[in-house]
Amino acid sequence: MEGDPLITVSRAHKAIYEMPNMYEKVFFMVSVFNIAEYVRILKILFTQTLNPHFDFEERKIFPILTTEVPDSRTLILTLIQQHTQFKSKLNEVDDMSLALQYDPQATQQEKDQAAAICKEITSGLNEHAQLEDEKLYPLLKNTSFFK
Ligand SMILES: [Fe+2]
Ligand SMILES: [Fe+2]
Repeated sequence: MEGDPLITVSRAHKAIYEMPNMYEKVFFMVSVFNIAEYVRILKILFTQTLNPHFDFEERKIFPILTTEVPDSRTLILTLIQQHTQFKSKLNEVDDMSLALQYDPQATQQEKDQAAAICKEITSGLNEHAQLEDEKLYPLLKNTSFFK
């Protein structure tokens, strides 16, 4: 049994809203260690919480809304594109942080660039969850999702 699907959603969004805190803690000073550590935490978060959450939205929520609330289609397209961008940004920064760890010539500019992508993922996810909480989930109220 999966339990109440919307409780699963609020758990995943709660984890997203806590990310800026986590970012501040890990990034008190930008270093290769911090980037690698933050990417390690992000990968765990994606594997355990965010990827299953994106799948749930894409398989269970979006199809019901596009069928029963056709006006939601543009919003849903945006949200799907964002899911894809988060995954590809994570892969990008994962590759970068691996290279930085083994490159004694790595410059501060490269480290800053990797750190900037981590920050983009964190703030992007926050805006994404906020958009869903404000505009997407309220649309589910009158659909067959609750029947
Ligand atoms: Fe989402
Ligand atoms: Fe979500």
